[in-house]
Amino acid sequence: MKPDALSHLVNLAQSVPSIAEMFRTSPGRAAQFTFDAVGIHADFSRQRISPVLWAALQDTAKDRGIEENIARMFRGDIMNVTEGRAVLHTALRADASTSNEAHWASHALHKAKECARAVRSQSDIRTVVNIGIGGSDLGPAMATRALRRCVDGPDVRFVSNVDAADLDSALAGLQPQHTVFVVSSKTFTTSETMHNAERARQWVSAAGGDWALRFFAATASPDVARRWGIRDENIFEFRDWVGGRFSVSSVIGFPLMCAIGPDAFDEMLMGMRDMDAHVAAEPLHLNLAVAHALVWFTNAVLHGYATVAVVPYSHDLSRLPAYLQQLVMESNGKGVSTRGERVDTSTSPVVWGEPGTNGQHAFFQMLHQGTQVVPVEFISSVAPLGSDNEAHDILIANMIAQSEALAVGDANENPHRRFPGNRPSSVLMLDALSPRTFGALLAMYEHSTAIQGWLLDVNSFDQFGVELGKTMAISTLNSFGDGGNSSEETLTHPLASWYLAQQKNISGE
Ligand code: F6P
Repeated sequence: MKPDALSHLVNLAQSVPSIAEMFRTSPGRAAQFTFDAVGIHADFSRQRISPVLWAALQDTAKDRGIEENIARMFRGDIMNVTEGRAVLHTALRADASTSNEAHWASHALHKAKECARAVRSQSDIRTVVNIGIGGSDLGPAMATRALRRCVDGPDVRFVSNVDAADLDSALAGLQPQHTVFVVSSKTFTTSETMHNAERARQWVSAAGGDWALRFFAATASPDVARRWGIRDENIFEFRDWVGGRFSVSSVIGFPLMCAIGPDAFDEMLMGMRDMDAHVAAEPLHLNLAVAHALVWFTNAVLHGYATVAVVPYSHDLSRLPAYLQQLVMESNGKGVSTRGERVDTSTSPVVWGEPGTNGQHAFFQMLHQGTQVVPVEFISSVAPLGSDNEAHDILIANMIAQSEALAVGDANENPHRRFPGNRPSSVLMLDALSPRTFGALLAMYEHSTAIQGWLLDVNSFDQFGVELGKTMAISTLNSFGDGGNSSEETLTHPLASWYLAQQKNISGE
């Protein structure tokens, strides 16, 4: 964004009246800042955004070519410019007749769905263990928990960490003859995933029989999966135009299909498709994903708030913050523009959070009275989330009260009991935590993330920032092989040598 345009927006943001004042002076504020789309009621009225700033933000979205970028992405243009790839996760849930990619994806998904049906119908398969990390774990794991009430298939477990404790605890109490594994990896080379997959293969083989009958793969590298020994009929494919963190609607959703069934999975895709249609068709000022992106952009870039707390008032959405951490931070945590020029503003906020009301008894003290301002995104559902309607009213009353308290504060004379107020928050209410509305929510977040990237002019679709640590982990592990006696000078050489010495002591060598 041009420095002049940015400083104009920053100036407008600095002169925004308090949230309470804006409510006093403009009675229509709640309506102006509320959006309803595809079962989601989004209330942004308690954000630090005045009507004047909002109008300027709409102009910015127009100047930054957001409408054109949305159209180009849906069309399959090369949006991931640093890797020369299209960005077509929307084709995964589009009508098969709309493009070659959608046609191809619907066949790939059909194969996975038929297989999920078969897995669900075999009574001797009691557990499905997904082995994957990042986008090959967070989406399906979060969704399986979110749609817990639709689960009517085998027990589905997720193993992501190379820490042996993760696979150990997932396998506890399981029997190989009643267990199948899905190795989920776009590249089929991710070291943590391949290490865990190898251990799982040994665990199955040790019980005798053909391990390959019990292994599936969800991958964009079918040849690598084949070479690893996965049978052709057990490989579900997606393409490199689906980014890992945008892959929940691809065959990476296979474990979710096993848990909730292909029909409920399709419902989720329909919700995503509806949101795609909304985002593609609605003008900027009526577009929920654009509004959401503008709110996040305002907080991170114009007000300079370093973090955002995502607080679902829904226990079933407890993994949503972790999922959004990857979606937002891996996408927009960049330091250079699409042309490789240094970006001086904040790009991605730190995303964090835990479900309410638990968070109220942990970190909300800081949100209300701490010296850092943390915007909060509250998310819940109108329909009760469990079997106790009274509990649901208590939950929602708490959420609404927190949003109000953050905004209005309390001018108590006692400084210890004073609440500064004017702290921004949004409330997203789903009509129900159904597969369809949940799908719409996920697609809204996908689109908002991409739109934030376009506003910032960063490439939201690569992730070179994860490579350096991966490479160093390999050389560090190799250095363990020579007992830490490598002559190579590194900042961590003494630490590695100390660790190896302690290991020797523990094992009594
Ligand atoms: O951490 C980097 C990353 O490449 C993510 O983008 C991706 O979701 C994750 O690793 C897993 O990669 P893969 O699906 O190839 O195993």
